[in-house]
Amino acid sequence: MDQNELKQQVGQEAVKYIEDGMTVGLGTGSTVRYMVDALGKRVQEEQLNIVGVTTSNRTTKQAQDLGITIKNIDEVDHIDLTIDGADEVDDNFQGIKGGGGALLWEKIVAINSSKIMWIVDESKMVHQLGKFPLPVEVIPFGSAHVFHELQQKGYNPEFRMTNDTKFLTDQKNYIIDLQLNRIGDPFGLADDLVKMVGVVEHGFFLNMVNTVIVGRESGPEVLH
Ligand code: 5RP
Repeated sequence: MDQNELKQQVGQEAVKYIEDGMTVGLGTGSTVRYMVDALGKRVQEEQLNIVGVTTSNRTTKQAQDLGITIKNIDEVDHIDLTIDGADEVDDNFQGIKGGGGALLWEKIVAINSSKIMWIVDESKMVHQLGKFPLPVEVIPFGSAHVFHELQQKGYNPEFRMTNDTKFLTDQKNYIIDLQLNRIGDPFGLADDLVKMVGVVEHGFFLNMVNTVIVGRESGPEVLH
């Protein structure tokens, strides 16, 4: 199985956890794309009455095209379950997200969810976080100074670019990726980053997730 088949496998597995009447947080990324496809199929075939709360404009468009009812996060009073992808997940379910640049909305949806499930292919499972660059979302105003401060701290920052322009999130912010390679203390680094003026959010998702479904050659592995 190639990586896309593993992503599809976990996407299809995850929708089995969605029950009629639920309000469901819908993440962002190529793995979630498979999950939303599978959910759209269930909604159509089983006439499921669910409400989706999306984490990016991309997911909103896909879900609406499939006939899934979407509400803004501020129109719902709770989210039962959020299903999202991740870029790295360690042995303790601590993770890095934001490879697709949706970390801010993903985190807002996540913290307002009763349960969080991540769906990943097996390449995302690591013993130590950091090989994947840690995304940091910053407001454009003064971002060159934030970048410089990150450089001074030795965090190896790089502005995320699309073609020759700085990547813009759905919230119209920039992303600075930190190439750290090995992150010994994610909690300490997270604390340091949130204290920096101009930083809106970072891609650490710590002590948040309840279930991880890992796509493997032998079939989906559900970890709690
Ligand atoms: C987007 C994310 C994605 O969930 C993460 O990048 C995983 O993406 P993919 O499923 O395409 O590998 O955090 O901001």
